[in-house]
Amino acid sequence: MENSIAKILYNEEQIKTRVKEMAQEITKDLMGDDLIVLTVLKGGAMLSADLVRCFDFPVTLDYIAVSSYYSGTVSTGNVQIKKDTDININGKRVLIVEDIVDSGNTLAHLKELFKLRGAKDVKICTLLNKPARRVAEIKVDYIGFEIPDEFVVGYGLDYNQLYRNLPYIGVLKPEVYA
Ligand code: IMP
Ligand code: MG
Repeated sequence: MENSIAKILYNEEQIKTRVKEMAQEITKDLMGDDLIVLTVLKGGAMLSADLVRCFDFPVTLDYIAVSSYYSGTVSTGNVQIKKDTDININGKRVLIVEDIVDSGNTLAHLKELFKLRGAKDVKICTLLNKPARRVAEIKVDYIGFEIPDEFVVGYGLDYNQLYRNLPYIGVLKPEVYA
């Protein structure tokens, strides 16, 4: 796999440290037993698995799968729910966990949806933020790292469903997706 990576942006140790810091920040703000941690599959799964194990209070876990990317590296802006949540979020507080906020379309759509379903509060936590490509107005409450406008993989992020299992965040060599 390493042959496909042009450079490492954040290594395992840096991610681990940052995730712990985020967990502390979230605990300070959101601690309480009515919190639903809603992970956006598949990319958010690594972050949420590491994050929730840092929480010293019980939370409810649920998962949603959406597609906003059909292929390649450009968002279509069209958000489609492929797997919905199982639990009723009416009156509950929701923390959405995502791998990356790029155009912002996915999270703008989900935040709106959960509010329509009666969530008392919806906060957003993302491992990565790529502000250069933002299209939708969206407040991101917890950000692991800000990254430049480069296509990255690893720690949940994929290129054509591959590389999610890299333990670090790296930039793919252009020839991989050329
Ligand atoms: P948005 O709706 O444009 O904010 O896109 C969010 C989704 O696009 C993320 O959940 C990722 O699946 C995907 N995405 C955006 N940028 C990257 C990247 O650099 N690498 C891998 N996936 C990305
Ligand atoms: Mg994805």
